[in-house]
Amino acid sequence: MDDKVSFTAMEHAQRAEYDLVFAHDEANIALQADKVLDWLAIMEGDSPYRISRLQHCLQTATRAQRDGADDETVVCALLHDIGDVLAPANHSQVAAALLRPYVSEKNYWVVLHHGLFQGYYWLQHYDKDPDSRDRYREHPYYQACVDFCANWDQCSFDPDYPTEPLSHFEPLVRALFAKTPAETL
Ligand SMILES: [Fe+2]
Ligand SMILES: [Fe+2]
Repeated sequence: MDDKVSFTAMEHAQRAEYDLVFAHDEANIALQADKVLDWLAIMEGDSPYRISRLQHCLQTATRAQRDGADDETVVCALLHDIGDVLAPANHSQVAAALLRPYVSEKNYWVVLHHGLFQGYYWLQHYDKDPDSRDRYREHPYYQACVDFCANWDQCSFDPDYPTEPLSHFEPLVRALFAKTPAETL
């Protein structure tokens, strides 16, 4: 790019220079849906499950949509495991952070906690407490996260389930990331 700021430390920067930086950020935001779709496509790799991680995401979103979930919730279902690519140790938090500026507090909370709530189905195999999620039992979004896992996530490892392709969800992804992102500072 031709225009560059003159400062080498932020403490010396002028407003006009930040304007240049933020204009560049705006252009990046416009490409966010493309980047997210590319990121999802990476998940079509080898997997110990009977379907790829991408197919799991697609199946989770397909089930959500067929249950009548709104478009925002369907995109959250589609992207709930996208953190696996870069952050397998805390994939829920990464997906939630990606979605946070564009979704409701409820959807953010469900994606953020789905990993813990999904533990209900497997933690007992490792002598851990499958009811760890019950620390949130009084939380207003507790049941939504229980339902997300029970009805859409934990059951979406089925190679025989008729799952929609990524192209089916692409317009929903583009619409979500076309929204003006909320401040999250
Ligand atoms: Fe997950
Ligand atoms: Fe999942």
